[in-house]
Amino acid sequence: ARRSRFSTLMATAYNTGTPDLADFNWDALGFQLIPTDFMYLMSCSSEGVFTNGKLVPYGPIELNPAAAVLNYGQGLLEGLRAHRKEDGSILLFRPHENALRMKTGADRLCMPAPSVEQFLEAVKLTVLANKHWVPPFGKGSLYIRPQLIGSGAILGVAPAPQYTFIVFVCPVGHYFKDGLSPISLLTEEEYHRAAPGGTGDIKTIGNYASVVSAQRRAKEKGHSDVLYLDPIHNKFVEEVSSCNIFMVKDNVISTPLLTGTILPGITRRSVIEISQNLGFQVEERPITIDELLGADEVFCTGTAVVVSPVGSITYRGRRVEYGKNQEAGAVSQQLYAAFTAIQKGVTEDRMGWTLQL
Ligand code: COI
Repeated sequence: ARRSRFSTLMATAYNTGTPDLADFNWDALGFQLIPTDFMYLMSCSSEGVFTNGKLVPYGPIELNPAAAVLNYGQGLLEGLRAHRKEDGSILLFRPHENALRMKTGADRLCMPAPSVEQFLEAVKLTVLANKHWVPPFGKGSLYIRPQLIGSGAILGVAPAPQYTFIVFVCPVGHYFKDGLSPISLLTEEEYHRAAPGGTGDIKTIGNYASVVSAQRRAKEKGHSDVLYLDPIHNKFVEEVSSCNIFMVKDNVISTPLLTGTILPGITRRSVIEISQNLGFQVEERPITIDELLGADEVFCTGTAVVVSPVGSITYRGRRVEYGKNQEAGAVSQQLYAAFTAIQKGVTEDRMGWTLQL
């Protein structure tokens, strides 16, 4: 039955007579899981060789209960986006960077990684097979989630004997529930996201499991998310649960320096380069919470959150608001516009960041 569903789906996806777009209410997109048609699976032998990658119908995968990823968290995730251009064609944004970051994370977790070519091929095939799920121009994008997991069974703590690389996709709109409205952050002093020598600078799955408790507490108090401080001094700003943070003061843009506990975001790096190209002075350096509270504007960056303006930060019971009437600051708006224009193919991509499918 799986095989015949697959054949029907493939025939639908590649049939030139089929509509380019899924029958879906594109105006209702948020950041929720919407099942699409295909996912990509590739396994890796104990010799560390990835082979036989293939598209299969999207759905559950079988795992041994002793799989290293289930017991010891030996897993990585990536996130990137595909946008539909105004002419209907599809653009990937900086997929090489995700392939390289997955390799770095895999080295840290003693996992073999797919080559950059294998990663790119898998991403392209998965997007093309699901191309009718890439939202219309201006209505959102297709979020792509590559994963690398220790799928082999093992009892003692050690690297898994086998690995699986997976790519699935999902159409998405804005990450935060109020769309582009500035978000409200609660500073966290009790919990920390990462520590020196830990895994804060790779996209390992455990980094996300460990933030949901503080996140739930913040949401119960009406905040959008949590702002983490450094684990040694509880004073320097690190990042938010799923994104990097920037501040603007007197037209200088600053973001915390990557010192090993902060995720090296691809949007972070892109926003730094775009800001420099627009003539801003950009500094990567330690930023204290007090300095952040005194900024003119604050915004977050990430593949999921894009460029999200911050409307308020609450620290030790004091709420500091940025901007007037809950409006995004001018610099945040300018960077959001410049960044998304490249992603959507609206402005010329002089950096060579996009890959047309
Ligand atoms: C992304 O921005 O793509 C991420 O991976 C964050 C995600 C955990 C929501």
